[in-house]
Formats: sequence, structure tokens, C-alpha cells
Amino acid sequence: MKHAIILGTRPEIIKMSPVIRECARRNLDYFIVHTGQHYSYEMDRVFFEDLKLPLPSYNLDVGSGSHGRQTGKMLAGIEDILVKEKPDIVYVQGDTNTVLAGALAASKLQIAIGHVEAGLRSFDRAMPEETNRIVADHVSDLLFAPTADSRKLLLQEGIPEDRIFVTGNTIVDAVKSNLEIARGSDILERLHLTPKGYMLSTLHRQENVDDRGRLGSILVGLSKVYSEYRLPIVLPIHPRTKKNIGEFGLVIPDGIRLIDPAGFMDFLMLEANACMALTDSGGVQEECCILGVPCVTLRENTERPETVQVGANVLAGYKSDDILAAARAMTGKKSDWVNPFGDGHASGKILDAAIDRYGK
Ligand code: UD1
Ligand code: UDP
Repeated sequence: MKHAIILGTRPEIIKMSPVIRECARRNLDYFIVHTGQHYSYEMDRVFFEDLKLPLPSYNLDVGSGSHGRQTGKMLAGIEDILVKEKPDIVYVQGDTNTVLAGALAASKLQIAIGHVEAGLRSFDRAMPEETNRIVADHVSDLLFAPTADSRKLLLQEGIPEDRIFVTGNTIVDAVKSNLEIARGSDILERLHLTPKGYMLSTLHRQENVDDRGRLGSILVGLSKVYSEYRLPIVLPIHPRTKKNIGEFGLVIPDGIRLIDPAGFMDFLMLEANACMALTDSGGVQEECCILGVPCVTLRENTERPETVQVGANVLAGYKSDDILAAARAMTGKKSDWVNPFGDGHASGKILDAAIDRYGK
């Protein structure tokens, strides 16, 4: 049985890494296709190095572009590879344009699709990822839902029960297997930070950072948080956000320390030692929940409601006073919640299910 793993962005590399390592451990016949959606060293290659992953067999180098152009280029490129390689199953992870293209290409060729992290919904179609998730779920043959709640959402949308597997989220596998290694990172020393003596922020959602008003309001919100707590806010800056701050002519307020995007080990250390995270990232909401770090989500909704339900996360939106209020609400929060995303064996369960269904 031949397994194809399609990925293209930072979170997909990280969340697919446990599946890739499990394929290698089991000596399976597999190959990796990289679409090239992310290509800067610190958004791409650093994760292959940090996570000691084999390099992809193919890189489509599609680069950046409008949604349609970028997805179209990937669709054509992935189709050529799948026709040549004839895998028995294609795995995609999450909700990016890479996922949409990978799932559509495989679906048109009638190759089985396994969607890792299926059944997440923000119920917000203004978010480009929501369309990608819905389409990927509905053309997939195996849907690997991280939680029982995601499974329920899929059933409500009419997905047959025998396609859905509750596996946990592979991010738990990735955090568990890398946390000890990450403790070797010297990022805190390099940045002159002390454990719990700073906050961590990330920002990159299209709906937040492509809008001057929203991005400006979030920066003001972070500065209000700094004024109240006087703890530095470390912000590894996503290239999209960096570009927009420059184009909009926004000024970085005092107390916010911009750094380049961090590698996974450095970032895990920054997360684990932060007293709070303020973010619009999906993965960071999950990781904070797993690591016991209170999280303020700079969005009005989340497709990870489990983090809010267990008390690890609160939705703040983008208005500056709401961000400060949310930070106050999470200050001193006892992090005794239970991680809802599984036991760290998701990748094994995913491969077991695929081999059981399609193995020869
Ligand atoms: C993409 C995903 C988003 C995911 C995020 C993870 C979609 C629709 N969006 O958003 O769901 O949360 O990745 O980080 O698939 N750029 C670089 N170097 C890179 C990559 C991007 O400089 O390696 C810059 C370019 O200016 C580009 C912009 O970032 O135009 C946005 O990149 P893109 O991949 O389109 O979207 P992301 O915001 O990264
Ligand atoms: N991450 C990282 N370095 C950074 C910021 C994030 O390694 O500077 C990791 C983080 O640990 C998480 C993933 O990137 O696993 C989240 O990616 P991102 O926020 O770009 O996308 P999302 O999860 O929102 O799709």
C-alpha cells in the first residue's frame, strides 16, 4: 500500500510530522509532496530540520498568490504527481489552500483521501479556511476527527459514521515527542526572558492582518495589556503581518518585541514558559491548552471550542478594550484543565485506520 502525504505550510509540516515519522518507523511505502505554499526558510525548511523529517520527494514551488491562482497551480501540479505515483491514499491536514487542492486532486482521480484534523468549524464563511475545511471533509473517505465534538459536527453534516475516526490531534503527538528536545533551546537566554516573565503573541489571520483598522486595533490592545502588566510581549512576526504593518505604516507600540518567526523547538519553549498567549493562530490555541498556558484568542470565533470549554482559552475579538478585558480574565488562571485533544497517539491511530480500510 502506497501512502502520499501532502503538505505546504508551517502548521501542516508540524502536524504531519508525527504521521511521517510513524510511516518511517513502520517502514511503509510513502512519499511527501510539498506544494511550496510556504517557502521562506523560517516558515518551511527550519521545521524539516528541527523535526528531522525527510525532504519531500516533490516540491511544486507554487509560492504566494491569490487564493484561486495559488490553489489552481497546486491542483494541476498535484494531479500530475498522483497520476504518476498512483498512491492508494492521500493524506491532507487542516484547512489551508494546500489541503483544498490536495483533496480535490485526489478526489477527481478517485484516490482515497484521509483528512487529518477533520470536523473543525468556525461557522464563519468570511474565513477562507472554513471553505477549505468543509470541502475537504466532504470529499474525504477517512475523516480523522480530533475530538468527539468534531465527530458530532461531521455526523450532523451527513458524513457516514463509518468514515469518521476520533484519533485525537497529531499536535499532541508533536508536542509530547518534542518538548524534552525543546528544553535544550536557549531562546529565553538569547531574548533575555525569564520563565513566566513575558507574554507571547502571534498574528496572521487574513481577516485580522489584511485590514488596517483591525490590525491597528489589535496592536493597541496588546499595548494596553503591556501598560497594565509591564511584561514584554514577544511577537514572532508572520511574513504576511510584517508586510502589512509596513504597507499600512503602523508603528509597533512599546513593550511589543518583534522577532523573526521561530523554529518549532524555540517556539515550544517560548510557549511553555509564557505566562499567557495572545493569538489568532489555531495551532497556538491548541498547544497552549496542551501546555497549560492561558490563551486569549484575537478572534470572535474559534473552530477549537474545546479549548474554551475546558477553561484554557477565551475569545477576545480585535477591539483593544476587549483584548485587555480578556487578558485580565485569564490572569492567574489555574491551568488544571484536561487536554481535550487526545493522548499523543493520533498518528498511529490514523495509519491503523487507513491500513485497515485500504491495506493490500
Ligand atoms: C496560510 C493559510 C492559513 C494558515 C497559515 C499558517 C490559506 C488560505 N491560509 O496563511 O490557513 O493558518 O498559512 O501560517 O491557506 N509569505 C512569505 N513567505 C512564506 C509564505 C508566505 O513571505 O513562506 C508571505 C507572502 O507575502 C504571502 C503571505 O505571506 O503573500 C501570505 O501567505 P499565504 O500562504 O497565502 O497565507 P498565510 O497567511 O501564510
Ligand atoms: N509556530 C512556530 N513558530 C512561530 C509561530 C508558530 O513554530 O514563530 C508553530 C506553532 O508551534 C504551531 C504552528 O506554528 O504548531 C501554528 O502555525 P500558524 O499559527 O502559522 O497556523 P495555524 O495553526 O493558525 O493554521
